[in-house]
This record gives sequence, structure tokens and C-alpha cells, in this order.
Amino acid sequence: MKMETDRIRLRPWDRKDLEDLYAFARNPAVGPQAGWRPHQSKEESSQILSRMITTPDAFAVVLKSTMRVVGMISAGIDTSRRNLAAKTIGCALDEAYWNQGIMTEAVGLMIRHLFDDPGTELIAMDHFVENRGSRRVIEKNGFHYEGTIRQKVRLYTGEVKDCRCYSLTRTEFEMRNASS
Ligand SMILES: CC(C)(COP(=O)(O)OP(=O)(O)OC[C@H]1O[C@@H](n2cnc3c(N)ncnc32)[C@H](O)[C@@H]1OP(=O)(O)O)[C@@H](O)C(=O)NCCC(=O)NCCS
Repeated sequence: MKMETDRIRLRPWDRKDLEDLYAFARNPAVGPQAGWRPHQSKEESSQILSRMITTPDAFAVVLKSTMRVVGMISAGIDTSRRNLAAKTIGCALDEAYWNQGIMTEAVGLMIRHLFDDPGTELIAMDHFVENRGSRRVIEKNGFHYEGTIRQKVRLYTGEVKDCRCYSLTRTEFEMRNASS
């Protein structure tokens, strides 16, 4: 199934995405809010791109009007639960495109993609407590707040972060779809 809305498409990463990836991932306003160090060089972006190309459920967010990659979204097993059927989503967007609803759409596409796999029972998302933009993306996608885990993450800087944690079960997702 194609993962797209009127203005964005999620697709697997490709080697030709290096320039676009480096352009937004080097910005110190982007990575640290998602827990990762800004890319220090094009070589670092290239290594990370190589990993993402071979990682299942790691997608480039493409703006259809320009066909440029403006963000990243990925999902993997939620290692904070002892349940292999629980996935967690991470994402980041080029700062030039913030607050236009793009990541809300991308997360919506990713949720449908993950629940298309009958092996997914629950999807989790977290954000650092001060990350208001991320909080809204999660809320607008219908996730339920579970609580705050204090000192959940130690950053590459050594700083320790509290995280607000959310989840969406398959039943909640299916009930929402049935009533819309
Ligand atoms: C968080 C992020 C993915 C949001 O993407 P986005 O496409 O800008 O999100 P959307 O436009 O879909 O929604 C953003 C919402 O947050 C709100 N928002 C943004 N900054 C805010 C702030 N400082 N205080 C309160 N609300 C804020 C916007 O008003 C909007 O909500 P609304 O639709 O109710 O008005 C993007 O800002 C980003 O990549 N940040 C850096 C990396 C990161 O934080 N990744 C997520 C890690 S969990």
C-alpha cells in the first residue's frame, strides 16, 4: 500500500537523499529534541543513511510539491516494554517546515502502515517534556498519555531527560476508524 497524502509521501531511503538528509540533520535545532547529536559532517550523514536504507520501517518524508526529503520517520520494537508486538515511532523534520501539519500526517501514515501488520498490537511514542511540538503531533494522532518516566534518557551531552509516554492500541485504532 502506498503511504501518501495529498502533499507528502513516505518511502524507503535512497543514496540520492544524502544532500537533503545532511541539510536538515546538521541543524542543532532538530536532532537534540529527538535525542540525537546533530550530524557533524556529510560523511556521518552518509553512514546513517546507509543504516536507514537497510532498516525496515525507516522512511524518508518527501514533500510531493518539490520531491525533496524534508524529514525522517521510523519505527522499531519498543524496547521499554517486554512485548515484541509493541512498536515505537521516532521522527524529525527540517526546521523550515515546522508547524504546517506535515509530521502529524506522516505519523498518521506510519500508524496505518504498522497496524497493517497483524503482528503489531500497540504503538508507542515518547517526547521530552519540554518538546511541545512533538506533544501536539502525538495528541493529534489520538495517542493516550500513559505517564512520565523520569530520567528516561541520557543524551549524548550527558544531560538526562524526563519523557512523557503515550500509546495507541490496535483496538483503539480500529474503534476510531470504525466511528469516522
Ligand atoms: C516535533 C516535530 C516533528 C513536529 O513536526 P511538525 O510537522 O512541525 O508538527 P505539526 O505541524 O504536525 O504539529 C505541530 C504542533 O505543535 C504546536 N507547537 C509547535 N511548537 C510549539 C510550542 N513551542 N508550544 C506549543 N505548541 C507548539 C503547533 O502549533 C502544532 O499544533 P496545532 O496543530 O495544534 O497548532 C518537529 O518540530 C521536529 O522535527 N522537531 C525536532 C525533532 C523532534 O522533536 N522530533 C520528535 C521527537 S519525539
